[in-house]
Amino acid sequence: MKAMVVVGAQWGDEGKAKVIDYLTERADLVARYQGGANAGHTVVVGANKYVFHQVPSGILYPDKRCLVGNGVVMDPLAFLGEIDELEARGLEIQGRLFVSARAHLILPYHQALDQAGEKRKGESAIGTTGRGIGPAYVDKAARTGMRIGDLMNPERFERRLESALAEKNRLLEKVYGAETLEFGPMLQTYLAAGARIAPFVRDVSLLLHRAMDSGQRVLLEGAQGTLLDVDHGTYPFVTSSNPVAAGACLGVGIGPTRVGRTVGIAKAYATRVGNGPFPTELDEAMGERFRKLGQEFGATTGRPRRCGWFDALVARHAARVNGLDELAITKLDVLDTLEEVQVCVGYRLYGETLDELPMDPEDLEQAEPIYERMTGWQKPTVDLRSLEALPKEARAYLDRLSELSGVPIGIVSVGPDRDQTFTTEHHRRFE
Ligand code: GDP
Ligand code: IMO
Ligand code: MG
Repeated sequence: MKAMVVVGAQWGDEGKAKVIDYLTERADLVARYQGGANAGHTVVVGANKYVFHQVPSGILYPDKRCLVGNGVVMDPLAFLGEIDELEARGLEIQGRLFVSARAHLILPYHQALDQAGEKRKGESAIGTTGRGIGPAYVDKAARTGMRIGDLMNPERFERRLESALAEKNRLLEKVYGAETLEFGPMLQTYLAAGARIAPFVRDVSLLLHRAMDSGQRVLLEGAQGTLLDVDHGTYPFVTSSNPVAAGACLGVGIGPTRVGRTVGIAKAYATRVGNGPFPTELDEAMGERFRKLGQEFGATTGRPRRCGWFDALVARHAARVNGLDELAITKLDVLDTLEEVQVCVGYRLYGETLDELPMDPEDLEQAEPIYERMTGWQKPTVDLRSLEALPKEARAYLDRLSELSGVPIGIVSVGPDRDQTFTTEHHRRFE
């Protein structure tokens, strides 16, 4: 059985978790492949709302297994906190949630360096979530990082932590003028966390291979989004991992031949948290209207999200770099009351017209969107459950998004609840 990758096609917060949760009903395993506690993944089931940061969004189904792959940077304390919270809400977690021994650790100095680095950047800050993501991936690439596997070996962990912390403290103090961190309490806290995490540790790659060989259906859950990808996003205003579909193979330890389908999630409009180019961003008044209608506040930091119109050039880029087979369009209902909807179909840049993203993200900052205007439907869609049932203007809007992106729409979401979702003839289940 081939795996299905679910990836954000915009700047994150597209509603990935909602779609993952929906698709999990027909899957056996769900694995996160990159990012860390920078993610905020919301699932709503009736009166219950859950926000996942490191635990995969398939965890609400009691009979499914969830995995955290080697590509994730894991904050062990936040992870345990999340498990405690889920258990307190009555979920059985033990024996069906597993973590790769190869996942890198986020330690307090990563968070301190993330925050100090952002402060130092001032005006040119990225607007990170402050969760230590960038510095943890820096250590991974520099081969100075520590992994879950190290935490399983207290002597090795102690030795490595001592030498890493000495260096990071010098950086914090001498370069950033920030507070240094104490070794003893840190060691004790993390060893205790390690002991609690031990039963969760597995060779995730091996586990996945065996599961797929025996016919199990695997969902690979992306965090962040294509435009936040360190290679394919709006660098340097990106995260430090590869949310794109290819990152899924690296981040769980499978080859590309084991992926059968890639689903891109996009809002019916666009949002971005943090700094960086966003050509279709709305002016203050209209942005505020979207923010209210769509409840656009960060699930991790609570920051107001910047809002804009759907950008077909972004969607085409996402279709290409992810090899999207299918799009899921979320939050269609947020546009229900608008008299008119707009889609960006091109950019004007330095006197020329572009129909693909410029190569240099700095040019994107200068790009002026060219919009196509369409009549709004001005009818509620929240209770509708098929394309045919949608007002004809909403259907025309979706058809246009699909045409401009070059990807068929397989899933439509018309509200935050699990039930407020439907598929179209283009949706393919696990084959
Ligand atoms: P993720 O990070 O991609 O999983 O998305 P987030 O959870 O950060 O943000 C998506 C927000 O939109 C959450 O609050 C969801 O509950 C909500 N949401 C998801 N789909 C829909 C939808 O179709 N309509 C509405 N109104 N809200 C939605
Ligand atoms: P989910 O998975 C939206 C943004 C931050 C910042 C940039 C770098 O919920 O879609 P980082 O802390 O990763 O170094 O920040 O990336 N960012 C997200 N934006 N959704 C997310 O996750 C994000 N994770 C990081 O706001 O601009
Ligand atoms: Mg989110």
